[in-house]
Amino acid sequence: MRAEPLAHTQERRTRATAVAHPNIALIKYWGKRDENLVLPRVDSLSMTLDIFPTTTTVRLAPDTGHDIVTLNGRTAEGEPLRRIVAFLDLVRERAGSACPAVVDSENTVPTGAGLASSASGFAALAVAASAAYGLGLDATALSRLARRGSGSACRSLFGGFAVWHAGLDAATVAEADLASHAEPVLCGDLDPALVVAVVDAGPKTVSSRAAMRRTVDTSPLYEPWAVSSARDLTEMRAALLAGDIEAVGEIAERNALGMHATMLAARPAVRYLSPATLTVLDRVLRLRQDGIPAYATMDAGPNVKVLCRRPDADTVAEALRGAVADGSVVVAAPGPGARPVHEDGR
Ligand code: ADP
Ligand code: DP6
Ligand code: CO
Repeated sequence: MRAEPLAHTQERRTRATAVAHPNIALIKYWGKRDENLVLPRVDSLSMTLDIFPTTTTVRLAPDTGHDIVTLNGRTAEGEPLRRIVAFLDLVRERAGSACPAVVDSENTVPTGAGLASSASGFAALAVAASAAYGLGLDATALSRLARRGSGSACRSLFGGFAVWHAGLDAATVAEADLASHAEPVLCGDLDPALVVAVVDAGPKTVSSRAAMRRTVDTSPLYEPWAVSSARDLTEMRAALLAGDIEAVGEIAERNALGMHATMLAARPAVRYLSPATLTVLDRVLRLRQDGIPAYATMDAGPNVKVLCRRPDADTVAEALRGAVADGSVVVAAPGPGARPVHEDGR
């Protein structure tokens, strides 16, 4: 066996790249019960997409004195930088390291537009940073770690459909922290597509984090939605297992509209849905009237994701293109979980 040159070995140990895809929740995460640990108030369930990957490289940089972060080609500052540095601090604490890092992350999904950039972003960062600092974590531990960056990120560790356990049954906060991670969901014969109608790729004015905090604190509709969401999840699991796309879509659509109702009732109201969103929702209704099973879900932004059967995806996309004059429409299928990218590009 040939020994590798030392410089190469060290390079491999201190630098790592990862790719992660965004995930879209069919049963939404909205509301935290612990802000620091990012423990959610409800279980949630999502589909990881095969489009819009984020690629993140983390390199240990002992001589820089502090973390240097590039996000989408620009030096990060303010809140985005603060969140990444806080995440690296968590990784360093576990690694017993004080070494700063140079982070370079590129989203292909619009950032902060309600298309889950925080999910692909922190899933990729969790995989890359834990590898660079030599943590050696399995997918469950990486999911727990990614959760600390952005709750929805814990689901992007897994491909296809994933459920994020809130860990509500745990007796202590430490046990809840352990219990709160994502895992793959058992599915029957589904061949789904998610048609993404980007009506506005611009960044939101209120972050998901701030909006859900305000909703929990002030919305009289929050508690009833959280109760009904637990029932939605049970029904959703059964619908996925049965491969019943109509039921999956109906449950997802009502769960999302209910979440937006909680925000509209917050004080002051949080409204992410725009006139363009409602135009797309009308088009989805018309598709159903025409006999095509198509169901909408929206996150913290005006963009609409439409669940349908994969053979119907082109018809659905064409219909939505007619409804989003200035926007774009992209078809997604279930995609892979977050993973390291090897130096040779594998
Ligand atoms: P989104 O709907 O895009 O998930 P959020 O309000 O949840 O919007 O989060 C947006 C924030 O997520 C950004 O302001 C930034 O702090 C963080 N973020 C986005 N992309 C990345 C990335 N690639 N790496 C690290 N953090 C990211
Ligand atoms: C509406 O995971 O972005 O997309 O944990 O504060 O980073 P933080 O929030 P984030 O919230 C996502 C909310 C949602 C629903 C979902 O993805 O489940
Ligand atoms: Co987000």
